[in-house]
Amino acid sequence: MTPIPHRIVSRRAETGDVTTLSLVPASGRPLGFVPGQFNMLTAYGVGEVAISVSSSPREVGPLQHTVRDVGPVTRALCRASTGDVIGVRGPFGTPWAVDAAPTSTGDTVVVAGGIGIAPLRGAIDDLVHRPDTDGGRVFIVAGARQPEQIIFAGDLEAWERAGAVVAVTVDLGSPGWLGHVGLVTSVFDAIAFEPAESSALVCGPEIMMRLTARALVGRGVDPERIRVALERNMQCGVGWCGHCQLGPFLLCRDGPVLPYAGAVSHLLSERER
Ligand SMILES: Cc1cc2nc3c(=O)[nH]c(=O)nc-3n(C[C@H](O)[C@H](O)[C@H](O)COP(=O)(O)OP(=O)(O)OC[C@H]3O[C@@H](n4cnc5c(N)ncnc54)[C@H](O)[C@@H]3O)c2cc1C
Ligand code: FES
Repeated sequence: MTPIPHRIVSRRAETGDVTTLSLVPASGRPLGFVPGQFNMLTAYGVGEVAISVSSSPREVGPLQHTVRDVGPVTRALCRASTGDVIGVRGPFGTPWAVDAAPTSTGDTVVVAGGIGIAPLRGAIDDLVHRPDTDGGRVFIVAGARQPEQIIFAGDLEAWERAGAVVAVTVDLGSPGWLGHVGLVTSVFDAIAFEPAESSALVCGPEIMMRLTARALVGRGVDPERIRVALERNMQCGVGWCGHCQLGPFLLCRDGPVLPYAGAVSHLLSERER
């Protein structure tokens, strides 16, 4: 439960309010993780928040977290400088489990809204570099409110070069934007995946995940093969305090990644109280 001090070795501004921090442990012993898991990050003297790991296990080097400045703790993290020390506790939660996909031969559709691409980054990297060439195609649909809020643009290009089909869409265009304008669901029709065999990984605002999951089910994807990432206020991260309860789930332990089937399809529309 004690945060392990980590030094910020570099920081990258992704957009006006999103920053990626690269961290190395002061102890020299790196934390392991699997894509989809999160850590509790402490801005000393301010507080602790849940933030997903955004690095890929394939990358040798610092642990990365991509943080959007929405309140006191995330602001302190986004404003921290190279050389500063923050606390890291984890990793916690369930992974995207790309390797355990029910059909390794089916297509995989990855749908990310806004900063929702951060928890997916490691899973996408695993998917596009899967050694199994019979493992189905990878389709990535990334949405952002406006072009200047697209994060990981360089990664999206690299994943496309590695063979993934990538579609980027924005809710609101701006001068010079020649790409697609519309919700992520509006680009589905142009994507030729094979629904009966496909798996899907979906992360973003709850309304986006709900509409996306419904659209995928409408296309014929099995709800058990659609995974969503659910977020609630997290305090302990280890199933003790109950802060993250959503219906029958403690999301720090049973989630954040869960199949969109049964209880989750109903709970996805419940607002946090
Ligand atoms: C498993 C998990 C993984 C997460 N991964 C990331 C990540 O990779 N990057 C990132 O930037 N954020 C992530 N978050 C959200 C992050 O934890 C919250 O933004 C943070 O707790 C806000 O704390 P704060 O003190 O800065 O602001 P607060 O003052 O606590 O909150 C500011 C505003 O954000 C809202 N908010 C708080 N927590 C959440 C939440 N969990 N989801 C949606 N809105 C929230 C509040 O209602 C309020 O309106 C994740 C959350 C969870 C549970
Ligand atoms: S955060 Fe304490 S039980 Fe989940």
